[in-house]
Amino acid sequence: MCGIVGYIGSRPAVALLVNGLKRLEYRGYDSAGVAVWEDGRLAVRKSPGRLAVLEQQLTARPVTGSLGVGHTRWATHGEPTELNAHPHTDCTGRIAVVHNGIIENYRELRAELEQQGHAFRSQTDTEVIPHLIEAELAAGAPSPEEAIRRALRRVQGAFALGLLFQEQPQTLYAARRGSPLIIGVGQGENFIASDVPAILDQVRRVIYLQDGELCALRADGVSIFRLDGTPVVPVIQEMTLAAKAVDKAGFETFMLKEIHEQPRILRHLLLQHAWQEDTVAMPGLGLGAPYLRKLNRVMIVACGSAFHAGMYGKLLWEQLTSLAVETDLASEFRYRDPKIDPGTLVVAVTQSGETADTLAALRMAKSWGCKVLAICNVPGSSVVRESDAVFFTEAGPEIGVASTKAFTAQLMAFALLAIHLGRARGELGAAEARASLQAMQAVPDAIHYVLDRAEAIRRLADKHHDGPSSLYLGRRFNYPTALEGALKNKEISYQHAEGYAAGEMKHGPIALINEYLPVICLCTRTRDEVYAKMISNIKEVEARHGRIIAVATDGDEEIVRLAEDVIWVPPLRDEFSPLANVVALQLLAYYSARARGTDIDQPRNLAKSVTVE
Ligand code: AGP
Repeated sequence: MCGIVGYIGSRPAVALLVNGLKRLEYRGYDSAGVAVWEDGRLAVRKSPGRLAVLEQQLTARPVTGSLGVGHTRWATHGEPTELNAHPHTDCTGRIAVVHNGIIENYRELRAELEQQGHAFRSQTDTEVIPHLIEAELAAGAPSPEEAIRRALRRVQGAFALGLLFQEQPQTLYAARRGSPLIIGVGQGENFIASDVPAILDQVRRVIYLQDGELCALRADGVSIFRLDGTPVVPVIQEMTLAAKAVDKAGFETFMLKEIHEQPRILRHLLLQHAWQEDTVAMPGLGLGAPYLRKLNRVMIVACGSAFHAGMYGKLLWEQLTSLAVETDLASEFRYRDPKIDPGTLVVAVTQSGETADTLAALRMAKSWGCKVLAICNVPGSSVVRESDAVFFTEAGPEIGVASTKAFTAQLMAFALLAIHLGRARGELGAAEARASLQAMQAVPDAIHYVLDRAEAIRRLADKHHDGPSSLYLGRRFNYPTALEGALKNKEISYQHAEGYAAGEMKHGPIALINEYLPVICLCTRTRDEVYAKMISNIKEVEARHGRIIAVATDGDEEIVRLAEDVIWVPPLRDEFSPLANVVALQLLAYYSARARGTDIDQPRNLAKSVTVE
């Protein structure tokens, strides 16, 4: 998604803006720009492409000043061109605006403003904002704040805004509705940013701007108002992210670093929640045992990898409790008429806590009187703030666009919550809980085992990466694993990949099998009925000369006779095998992408957090 950085203080603004935007590059963008108050006017520099192109422009045409805003744009309305890049200005160039989100009624507003004589330069929805403000000032708005308030009352859709006025060299304005915006509180200086990493190295104290709030930042203070003008008391919080978390720590990419962080993160979750013998500690979860005992139904909503984690959670919660559990893609759920009532717990799974579809699904559920449990990685995010209960995955900032450590932390969250629910509802006995908790303790070492064999996986990727497509097959708990492995491969190597339930092969996909198609088969030794069925699926592929890459339990002789290549993982209980199996698939996708020369941390067209529909 787009990135916003703003600064007001006594230091040169441009260097701070570009530094902050670089820290947001992982969010994905295709153009960038800055506006700075310089010697009585607003100087704007912007360009398509990467930040390096903007830096070249700034070197050729420097800008000095200590008040400015910067933006990286992920094109939604209009091509990634210089004209469409932010900041956008009004007719006079005396108002400059950067924007995250989508103005849904921009066409009508633009037509009205053009009728009034306003000249537009871009194809963007954003450009209506500076012109609306200009029009309100011309119509007699007594101050920039009032002009902003009047303008934003006419805007439908989501926005996070940074605004500069030529006549206001001492003030940086910002506003938000539906897109995140943070204020960084410094000593004699202040920042705005669309995400914490942008200002992590500059400030330690932040204010999370709330929906419908407008703020005026000066170098020595912050004033916040609601859009109706009522003042708001700022709540300053200590930043919880450590600067070290947003550097590569010697790895070649953030994604590889985050793949290797998984054992530590899962061990941390186990230490936090699974230190008792036969129960799980859930301090501050926000769902009491009486509520959990009365519960009869669960609806899990999410997008992308988080949805795959939800599919896994469904299977596990159904296995350890009597709950009826359903999953749905948040983007589909929000347009359904699901028959859910206050007796249904809605679980919103989201790494960023800002995914527009997941947030919309959450708000629908709240409107029906349901309680919402968030499984989320970002404290202070919109989903966290609007949920009734939260399980924090505590995976630390995930900078790589492709989710890895946050995904396995979501799986672990579902496993811990399954035991918690089963015990609270009296449906899981102490002995079974103890056995599950003991089995979970083996997961971090199992992942280490896979990571130690990364070189063998890299060789496999070198061998199989250059085909047009690949097929991933799994059953039961490893059906979501197959989907996730295929998604990883698609999004970072750009090779088409499809995840499928192995039991579906005869219903169509078997027609795809030929001697060129890599078929990644998840067949770690699990319950006999599932393993035996998986072996027969693999035999169907082998009979048609498919290129079988098996993910199998160390020591499995039968699979050696069937598969061309094998990725070995240590034995884990069926329900916990996805946590190690998926790491093998993360590495396979990673090394395929490396062999294909793609931008692994910032894959083309992708954003870390999809904050628009
Ligand atoms: C995962 O690799 C993808 N980058 C993407 O599918 C992601 O999982 C999805 O956009 C959901 O994001 P969220 O967890 O922040 O809601």
